[in-house]
Amino acid sequence: MRKKIVAGNWKMNLNLEEAKVLVSELKVSLDNHSAERVAQNRPTLPDVVLFPPYVYLTRILDVFFNYEGVSIGAQNCHHKEHGAYTGEVSASMIRSVGASHVIIGHSERREQFGEGDELLAEKVKQSLKNDLKVIFCCGEKLPERESGKHFQVVSDQLHKGLMWLEEDQLKNVVIAYEPVWAIGTGVTASPGQAQEMHAYIRGLVADKYGKKAADNMSILYGGSCNAKNARELFTNADVDGGLIGGASLKSADFFQIIQSFD
Ligand code: 13P
Repeated sequence: MRKKIVAGNWKMNLNLEEAKVLVSELKVSLDNHSAERVAQNRPTLPDVVLFPPYVYLTRILDVFFNYEGVSIGAQNCHHKEHGAYTGEVSASMIRSVGASHVIIGHSERREQFGEGDELLAEKVKQSLKNDLKVIFCCGEKLPERESGKHFQVVSDQLHKGLMWLEEDQLKNVVIAYEPVWAIGTGVTASPGQAQEMHAYIRGLVADKYGKKAADNMSILYGGSCNAKNARELFTNADVDGGLIGGASLKSADFFQIIQSFD
């Protein structure tokens, strides 16, 4: 059965003190709530994955060392193993500090840093080779949706960036559908729009890898998902959780989103 996941992408936000406060508050909520759930025989919370900026990775890893249900990842990695790439960080470095996940293909990387499908495919390759789990992002821009090209855009992104993998590699991949027009705008995809695209994505995975692989693939929604709308989005059959930006920076909001599957 596929996993439910709520992931927080902090992007380039929070100083170290703010980050420490956020994770300590979050940990207290998780501690209290997990004990309560066990006592009440309720299902466990979804997996939580935090994506702080590189410089905080080891600090946040220490906070959640051996903490069941919480994983830590990087927001990006370089596509080469090592070398003269000043300012860059490799997948093997990220893995060596104990992080387990990496985000590849975020629209902000595609747009602001010119990362194209071929480069993203190299990053996926490096990440999996170094034993990192990949959250691979896809999503159309507003004019693409308005002209009815959104399915084609997402299909292209997935086929070029990701779906050249062997089937057994997919178990270390999560797909995040993040329509660009919804990211940081306060405009969320409607539950119907999210479900429609998620079902389409699952269909693409099924066509290429079979029904079992598609059923096991977690597909997250991202784009102005918050404490108010998460529950409605997550009730959709093909929405397995969220990749949260702004609302992951406040512990109370983020924790409420984590509880939105109940
Ligand atoms: P917002 O939740 O701030 O819209 O960001 C979504 C996102 O880009 C997560 O990766």
